Amino acid sequence: MSKTIVITGGAGFIGSHVVRLFVSNYPEYTIVNLDALTYAGNLANLSDVESAANYRFSKTNILDTDALAALFAEYKPDAVIHLAAESHVDRSILSPLDFVFTNVVGTVNLLNAAKTAWAGDFSGKLFYHVSTDEVYGALGDTGLFTETTKYDPHSPYSASKASSDHFVRAYGDTYELPVIISNCSNNYGPYHFPEKLIPLFINNIINKKPLPVYGDGLYTRDWLFVKDHARAIDVIFHKGKTHDTYNIGGFNEWTNIALVKLMCSLMDERLGRKAGESEELITYVKDRPGHDRRYAIDANKLNRELGWSPSVTFEEGLAQTIDWYLSNEDWLKQVTSGDYLNYYKEQYGK
Ligand SMILES: NC(=O)c1ccc[n+]([C@@H]2O[C@H](COP(=O)([O-])OP(=O)(O)OC[C@H]3O[C@@H](n4cnc5c(N)ncnc54)[C@H](O)[C@@H]3O)[C@@H](O)[C@H]2O)c1
Repeated sequence: MSKTIVITGGAGFIGSHVVRLFVSNYPEYTIVNLDALTYAGNLANLSDVESAANYRFSKTNILDTDALAALFAEYKPDAVIHLAAESHVDRSILSPLDFVFTNVVGTVNLLNAAKTAWAGDFSGKLFYHVSTDEVYGALGDTGLFTETTKYDPHSPYSASKASSDHFVRAYGDTYELPVIISNCSNNYGPYHFPEKLIPLFINNIINKKPLPVYGDGLYTRDWLFVKDHARAIDVIFHKGKTHDTYNIGGFNEWTNIALVKLMCSLMDERLGRKAGESEELITYVKDRPGHDRRYAIDANKLNRELGWSPSVTFEEGLAQTIDWYLSNEDWLKQVTSGDYLNYYKEQYGK
């Protein structure tokens, strides 16, 4: 069945994988990539699908309500998959208001645009909001986040995402807008902007720069390969129940220090360096304020109800990711110029 889907944030890390999957797997759909192209948006992420007949790009900011109304009038979308966001916790600590504007106000603008354009006729319509496990706060040594875990965000980023989730649910309850939310754990994979841990460290290992590890290095995250997140979004979009929530995770917990050591050894092998050489780059730095100790997702509902599970192990996904960065050094050089370097200096003082 033909459909028009607006995917917001499609030029970003996860969005570009979602756009690629939908453009390639559903030639009968028209995919409109809506993105403001902030520092995190890079159309080069989509160079392999940009000439596909069912792909469109619109440089639109979700803070611009007139532009959103015009886009809905032009494309008459059946569905929205909303990924556009300010997404980096450290940046949210430096400028929280940017996160309030994009993540909260931008999401409400998009909800209003969909509600107005669909004008009460919601049959066949869907507003799918992509969110994070960080809304649930931090775990102790045991336990997992489920879909019913109480929200307890600690950073301006997670507070802004929690707020956007609440607005999406409120539009579902108040206006009966057909909404779905998914909350996913940390992603890694190709096209990841090198300010986040895994691509930052790949880049620093290549360039023999220090590997800044926060605090004692024992912060624990559940890592999921980005293509498996895109597969989960596909399954939830097509088979998920409206007004429901799905947690997405990799069943794959790593402390930061164990992860960094694994990366060092995989990269030493590939770069022809002696074993242990890159580990010497590890430098412990002052902890991030409000740092959540452990996140871990229970993704059993998604597995049980919709049959999704991760397709690669962490070792396979990490090796694929490192190989991608090593064979795409031009992409890496291009994104590590300009704003990224200023930001890096501000954050790490080097
Ligand atoms: N990265 C993760 O590990 C992770 C995990 C779970 C959930 N998420 C969520 O998934 C979504 C995508 O994350 P990501 O890591 O790909 O982010 P990203 O920072 O790589 O990409 C965000 C995209 O949104 C665009 N954007 C930002 N502000 C905009 C605005 N005002 N108007 C239009 N476009 C705008 C940017 O240009 C960029 O292309 C976010 O909502 C994030 O909260 C991310």
